[in-house]
Formats: sequence, structure tokens, C-alpha cells
Amino acid sequence: SRTIVRNANVCYGFESTKCGEAVLIPVASRTIVRNANVCHGFESTKCGGAVLISCSFYGKISLSITKNVRCAQNGEKMRTYLVTGGAGFIGSNYIHYMFKKYDNEIRIINVDALTYAGNLENLKDVEKRENYTFVKANICDKDAISKIFAENDIDRVVHFAAESHVDRSIRNPEIFVQTNVLGTAVMLNCAKAAWELPDGSFKEGKKFLHVSTDEVYGSLPDDDNAFFYETTPYDPHSPYSASKASSDMLVKAYMDTYHFPANITNCSNNYGPFQFPEKLIPLIINNALHGKKLPVYGDGKNVRDWLYVEDHAKAIDMVQEQGRLFETYNVGGHNEKQNIEIIHIIIETLQEMLPDSDPRKAHINNDLITYVEDRKGHDRRYAIAPDKIKAEIGWYPETMFKEGIRKTIAWYFEHEDWMNNVTSGDYQKYYNEMYEEK
Ligand code: NAD
Ligand code: DAU
Repeated sequence: SRTIVRNANVCYGFESTKCGEAVLIPVASRTIVRNANVCHGFESTKCGGAVLISCSFYGKISLSITKNVRCAQNGEKMRTYLVTGGAGFIGSNYIHYMFKKYDNEIRIINVDALTYAGNLENLKDVEKRENYTFVKANICDKDAISKIFAENDIDRVVHFAAESHVDRSIRNPEIFVQTNVLGTAVMLNCAKAAWELPDGSFKEGKKFLHVSTDEVYGSLPDDDNAFFYETTPYDPHSPYSASKASSDMLVKAYMDTYHFPANITNCSNNYGPFQFPEKLIPLIINNALHGKKLPVYGDGKNVRDWLYVEDHAKAIDMVQEQGRLFETYNVGGHNEKQNIEIIHIIIETLQEMLPDSDPRKAHINNDLITYVEDRKGHDRRYAIAPDKIKAEIGWYPETMFKEGIRKTIAWYFEHEDWMNNVTSGDYQKYYNEMYEEK
């Protein structure tokens, strides 16, 4: 009466605490068992196909585990995404974008360590969806990541998780190497182990998208005609950009050595909802609203190329679905502005948007601008040439800066609680309240 199946590529079995005794370990609604001494099974990649893994402990017990292969409403196999760092700024915007676009046609597993930058309040609107799962884990934790691959038939990895703030990297570089380099190595290894076939090729339709930055290319001169292309040599300067460059190199090595199915995107500065107020735009908005000084590093003439975050989310999805394997795509808005210009635009936009009756309006003016010591090794200018992604994939930025900054400011007006929770540190209690205390 037992079903024995062969060729499992993954198996969890039994854990024995005493000789001859097996212990089942239930996790959520599934039963995970550890350390079977014999396992046979198979993995189906087709919708509705049975996925059965049978394990036994010294021939005495057998058990089957069903992996999560679900059908979408259109009858196709539901594509499963493993998103890393989905509780951060871009990751959470990406998750919202994807559910808005694909609704119940996809499934997303979000793995995030919830560092200071991870905020589950960003995902309140999706957390009850049946096709969304949150897993609190560190990408450096090999066991935790391979367990996710073992239990789920992952089709796409979208790898955002990183330490992302340049100023922090200057103070404490080591964690950047840990997360950005070693964490990426773990993600690559686990995806490779899950997707590779015995002949060294990879299962159909799997793809790893590594989300990277334009900062790997270094700094451009103050010349409006100089741009970063995909062919621009890497020349990172900060510990952050060096760690991201290293992670890009690892992804490139996997593509070159194993033909590992991946793409890299190198994007310019993002802005929009849910951005942590250590980054220029939310910091300036929040400080201005509280009548605090607006710190400008150096002469304020460093240039960044600003892209509305939803346009980045769209680019990632388009590269996942249409990008040629093994290619890198630059993503940018052709929206280069000096930092001081950005600050003036924010002040003007706040003045336009706040009603005269709002008491904050009176103190928001240029007197708040304060020049402070420059960032060490401060890159002068970034500017992306997005020609390749436009020509090959048809992506272009849809949100002009004037519109994007108004949307962003409006979002911060409407989400004062979010900002208060972030600045007070209360957002870090959310995980306990929502997940651990239930
Ligand atoms: P963020 O700092 O807002 O979010 C990072 C997320 O990763 C957080 O949720 C954090 O908890 C999680 N995380 C950090 N270390 C982790 C670990 N060890 N294990 C699991 N999760 C971990 O960052 P962001 O601005 O959303 O950037 C996301 C990605 O996009 C990064 O890889 C960054 O390099 C890249 N990027 C950012 C920008 C930008 O302008 N913000 C531009 C281009 C590329
Ligand atoms: O270019 C993409 C990168 O953009 C991403 O890879 C990074 O993850 C992201 O943090 C961002 O890096 P920057 O260093 O460009 O962003 P930040 O918002 O920290 O700073 C933008 C510019 O504003 C930069 O020239 C430094 C300056 N600045 C920043 C802060 C926080 C100030 O003048 N004052 C400030 O208080």
C-alpha cells in the first residue's frame, strides 16, 4: 500500500532522538521530517502533477511529502517567485507591483532577515494573500535558504537583499561583505543545487535576477555627455559599491562557468513610497516637515540619476520575462540632478502641496539648507544610459520626476504613522505582533 518513488532531488526525512524512533517536525501546515536514511521521490514541475517524496527510516517507516506546486487560475502552473529582501524599500514596492500586475497568477515567497531596513508594515496590504508567504531568514543561512528551495518549486529568484546605504558601509564595511557578497554566494549555490540537472544543464524556465546598482561603475566626470553603459568597466569606490560589484562578479562567474540562468540589472537611484529616511529624498522630506536642518554633503553638486521605484519594479519584471539569459541591463531614468537641485525641488513642492492652514508651511524654506562635511570618497556623478533595455525589451521610465516627487510627497503626507513608526523604531515590533505572538 506504500508508494515508492525514485529520483528525489530533495528530501527531508526523519530525525531520530532515540534508536529506532523517528520524530516528525511539523512546520506551518506541512510536515517536515529530517534525516531519513533512505529517500526516494520525484518532483513535478507541471501544474497539478503529483509531487511525492517518500522517505523511510531504516526500512520501517515511509512518509510522503507534497511540495507546493499550485495551479494558477488560467490552468497553468503557478509561477513561484523567491524574493529576497522584500521587506525593504524596492523589494516591497516590487511585491506590490507584481500582485497588482499578476494577482493570483503567481506566488511570492519573501525571505528577509528584517534588519533595521526591513519593515513588514510595507507589506500589510498583501500579508493575508494565500499566494504570499513571508519567511524570516538570513540569506547567509545556507540551511534556511536550501530548505525554502526544497519545499517549494521556485521558478524565479529576485535577489534584492543587501545592505544598501553607502554611509553605513563607510562606518562598518564588514556586514556589507557578509550580506552582499557571501549572502549572494549562498543564494546562487542554493538556486544552482535546486535547478541543476544531472547533465549540468538547468531545468526549463528557471531564472535568477540579481538586482544591482549603477555605483559599481564608479564615478563620472561633470560632463553631460558621459554615461554608464553595460560595457563600462567596474570601478567601485565605497565599501557598499565594492561589495555589490563583488556580488555581480559572482553572478557573472556562475553564468560563465555553469551557464547558470541569470540576469543582472544595474539601476540608478530610486525614490518613492516606503523608502527608509536615511536616504536623501525621504530624509529631506521628513526633516523639512519637522523644521529640521537639511544636510547637504560637500558642495551639493554631486549628480544622481533618479528613477521612480515603480519603474524599477517594472524593469525587473520585464528583464525576468524578456531579458536574454546571461545579459546585464542598465536601468535608469535619464533624470540627472544635482543634490542641491533635488532639495530645492522638494522645498518648492512641499510649499505647493501644503495648504496655507498647515502650520508646517511657514518654516519650510531654503534657510533649513545646511552644508555639512562631505561623504568620504563621494562619487561625483552617476548617469545611466538605458539604451539596451529600451532597444531589446521596450522598457522606458514612465514617471517624470515632477510627477514622481509629488506622488512620493503625497505618500509621505498620507503615511505619517509609517514615518513615525520608522523614526521611533516601533516598526521593529511589527514582526513580533503579527507573526510571533499569534
Ligand atoms: P533596503 O535597505 O531598503 O532593503 C534591504 C532589505 O534587505 C531589507 O528588507 C533588509 O531587512 C533585507 N536584508 C538585509 N540583509 C539581509 C540578510 N542578510 N538576509 C536577508 N535579508 C536581508 O534596500 P533597497 O534600497 O530596497 O535596495 C534593494 C536592492 O536594490 C539592493 O540590492 C540594492 O543594492 C539595490 N539597489 C538599490 C537602489 C536604491 O536606490 N535604493 C538602486 C539600485 C539598486
Ligand atoms: O545609485 C544607486 C544607489 O543609490 C543605490 O545602489 C544605493 O543603495 C542607494 O542608497 C543610493 O546611493 P546614494 O549614496 O546615491 O544615495 P543617498 O540617498 O545616500 O545619497 C544621494 C546623494 O545625496 C549622495 O550624493 C549623497 C547626498 N546626500 C545624502 C544624504 C543622506 C546628502 O547630500 N545629504 C544627506 O543627508
